Amino acid sequence: MHWRVSLSALSLAAGAFAKHYAIMDNDWYTAGFVPYLIALDGDIDVLALASDTANSWQPQVALHAVATLEAGNLSCIPVYPGATWPLINTPERFQAWETTHGKLPWEGAFAPENATAEAAGNDPTSGDPNRIVKAAFKEGFPKGRPNNSTSAANFMVEMVHKYPGQVSIYSAGALTNVALAVRMDPEFASLAKQLVIMGGYVDLNMLEATGSIMLADYQSDINLMIDPEASKIALTADFPNITIAGNVANQVFPTQKFVDEVKTADNAYAQLFAKYYDLSFPFWDETAAALMVDPTIATNQTSVYLDVDTSYGSPNYGNIHVYQKALAPGGIREVNYVFEVDAKRLTERIKHSLMHPKACADLE
Ligand SMILES: *[C@@H]1O[C@H](CO)[C@@H](O)[C@H](O)[C@H]1NC(C)=O
Ligand SMILES: *[C@@H]1O[C@H](CO)[C@@H](O)[C@H](O)[C@H]1NC(C)=O
Ligand SMILES: *[C@@H]1O[C@H](CO)[C@@H](O)[C@H](O)[C@H]1NC(C)=O
Ligand SMILES: *[C@@H]1O[C@H](CO)[C@@H](O)[C@H](O)[C@H]1NC(C)=O
Ligand SMILES: *[C@@H]1O[C@H](CO)[C@@H](O)[C@H](O)[C@H]1NC(C)=O
Ligand SMILES: *[C@@H]1O[C@H](CO)[C@@H](O)[C@H](O)[C@H]1NC(C)=O
Repeated sequence: MHWRVSLSALSLAAGAFAKHYAIMDNDWYTAGFVPYLIALDGDIDVLALASDTANSWQPQVALHAVATLEAGNLSCIPVYPGATWPLINTPERFQAWETTHGKLPWEGAFAPENATAEAAGNDPTSGDPNRIVKAAFKEGFPKGRPNNSTSAANFMVEMVHKYPGQVSIYSAGALTNVALAVRMDPEFASLAKQLVIMGGYVDLNMLEATGSIMLADYQSDINLMIDPEASKIALTADFPNITIAGNVANQVFPTQKFVDEVKTADNAYAQLFAKYYDLSFPFWDETAAALMVDPTIATNQTSVYLDVDTSYGSPNYGNIHVYQKALAPGGIREVNYVFEVDAKRLTERIKHSLMHPKACADLE
């Protein structure tokens, strides 16, 4: 059967040269451009950025996406607006949950509205989700706007059909858009290449009690907790692979030395990073982006069955729970849970993408 051999040889060849695409969904902010620079530096074709409500409201973070792309001549990458509201959660409902189960040190978009903080340049929380706080655009208020010809979820669905098996879905904010895409099209998840997320901490409860408030802040897990139902839908869908950058996202921190070195590069991103990246926080979203580009930076990872607690009456509402296969309930799946990365290789990757950022002219 000679033709069979040549066909599989052909598809092997196609696989070897198949482009790796990504749609990157996040709660973008002034210094939030590093994940897409890492993806571009790793030769991933970033089809679009998508916006979600996590640290702030979706309309505000979509404009941050447009603004940060403009800062470095990357406006050839479109921004598609995601859902503004989580599937069912609201600030009121979240704050009522906190009354019963305790406050989260980081409440993201569901922190009480604070006009003083907004006037001082903070992104908006609670209140009117459509208000835009211009003072927060330290990278410059964008000239352009998100492309509202379609929604983030729709765009994700369209792209996995256009490039089956080649599109990574990256989510470092809430999983609302991913869940909508999953529910909209039963083929969506299986046609994607993988889902890579930032969020999903395990086994850190004692540390939350005995550590500092800042340590507890690191594992607030707002990405999953702002929309627990969406998290469950996304993380139980049949993506060929799901990688969780949870605990590992707290492993590697920027240092002043790192910033000083980045600052020597004369480009908008290196300068914005030096000025606005908060050194008190680990490389959360950057770790997830680097794992998407190069999974071999993981030095310790395991495969577990994963569920998300969607019980509003639970203190773990929106948190993950993991199982071994023999004990896992039905309806959940295996995921790749990363514990540790090669810190040196991660840091080098971040540094290179910031010091030599791609611009549209480099992307064909
Ligand atoms: C962006 O492009 C403009 C026009 O081509 C050029 O003058 C400018 O230096 C570029 N900026 C960056 C940050 O690449
Ligand atoms: C509002 O924000 C300001 C400035 O960040 C802060 O000092 C103040 O404590 C905040 N108010 C509340 C009620 O959190
Ligand atoms: C918006 O995206 C659509 C595809 O969804 C594209 O056809 C259109 O040209 C884009 N509009 C702008 C202004 O870039
Ligand atoms: C979509 O964007 C265009 C161009 O910015 C604007 O004219 C239009 O009002 C927007 N439509 C909606 C529904 O927001
Ligand atoms: C998922 O991807 C990771 C990283 O490439 C890999 O180590 C793991 O074996 C994959 N899992 C499955 C089930 O393919
Ligand atoms: C991998 O990480 C887990 C969880 O922290 C730990 O229990 C295990 O000992 C680690 N394995 C190696 C080889 O370091």
